[in-house]
Amino acid sequence: MHQVNLAENIYYLGFNDRRTHLFENFWPIPYGVSYNSYLIVDEKIALIDTVERTFVEDYLDQIEILTNGLPVDYLIINHMEPDHSGALKAVVAKYPNITLVGNKKTFDLVANYYQVTKNTLEVYDDYELPLGKRRLMFSTIPMVHWPETMVSYEMTSKILFTGDAFGSFGTLDGGIFDDELNLSVYEEELMRYFTNIVGKYCPHTQRALKKVESMDVKMLAATHGPVWRTDLKYIMDRYQKWSTYTTELGAVIVYGSMYGNTAKMADVIARQLAVRGVKNIRVYDASKTHASYIISDIFKYKAFIVGSAAYNNELFPSVESLVTKIEHMGIKNHLLGIFGSFGWNGGGVKNLQKFAENIKWDLVYEPVEEKGTLKKDKFEQCIELANAMANRLQSK
Ligand code: FEO
Repeated sequence: MHQVNLAENIYYLGFNDRRTHLFENFWPIPYGVSYNSYLIVDEKIALIDTVERTFVEDYLDQIEILTNGLPVDYLIINHMEPDHSGALKAVVAKYPNITLVGNKKTFDLVANYYQVTKNTLEVYDDYELPLGKRRLMFSTIPMVHWPETMVSYEMTSKILFTGDAFGSFGTLDGGIFDDELNLSVYEEELMRYFTNIVGKYCPHTQRALKKVESMDVKMLAATHGPVWRTDLKYIMDRYQKWSTYTTELGAVIVYGSMYGNTAKMADVIARQLAVRGVKNIRVYDASKTHASYIISDIFKYKAFIVGSAAYNNELFPSVESLVTKIEHMGIKNHLLGIFGSFGWNGGGVKNLQKFAENIKWDLVYEPVEEKGTLKKDKFEQCIELANAMANRLQSK
């Protein structure tokens, strides 16, 4: 393999996964994902995070080559999710004297996932670990996106190893560093990674960003996606925007529909929004488009308009799954519209109203609910819902 240096004796040691369909067995990754580990070879040798277990054999071989067969002294555990700790047990087996470096939240996870309890070093904010010419300093970033998450700062080259923070879906297809890549390819995958994986923890991300901004960082080395060494502002600005729920003028309309009646209402609302000059409109059938993409667009646009057919007196299942996810993620600061239809009894709109109460978004118009196919009266109400939403979107 090519030897990829972040700096002298600091190596990129990652693998591309183009085989897995669903990250965390839930989120689609059509462009794959990379698992990035890093290696520092100094008087002491330190690995920073590992890789998903599928790649263990090649990973150990690469370490052997880069260290010239010398033993690894430290495994820095910035994050314990198994896509990064998957090789931990194999690393410990190969280097039995290795010291595991983590914080007070790390080792309980290590013991429970891998039954490894020996040779641990507990670090904390501003703890410095000398490796020779190079030194690492640690800083915890709890709940970005697990309790034990921390970042490790290499003080000579000013490289910050950030775990999942600033990571992206999408494999590294040749280019490793941001200046080697066409970033437009990663635009959506970066946002999907943030919104899907980290998005529940925006306040924690804000606290993490403040910590990172207080450091003199020349390079951001995440566990997924590009290594940022040229345009750090590109990724920092996006994290700032997303984690403060800063949205653009636009609407996401999502519906669950069996026979097309609720879908028709969605189209009427979408058309009227367009008539009113709203250009960013995304209409999704919740049964077809994975929540991953819808959630990402909800983070992007200010308005969310959701419709559901009644299904056994409840929400349509795909809408129920989506709004439950949104509620759990605690996304804030949106405008909301609600609509739906039913055959003989309600259940869709009634439950969307419960969603509205729980999520506490700004409901811009009364819920619109039709019995059977869309007729003139409710058509007009759909128009009014869209008008109310356009007014709110366009008000300064
Ligand atoms: Fe990439 Fe939270 O693991």
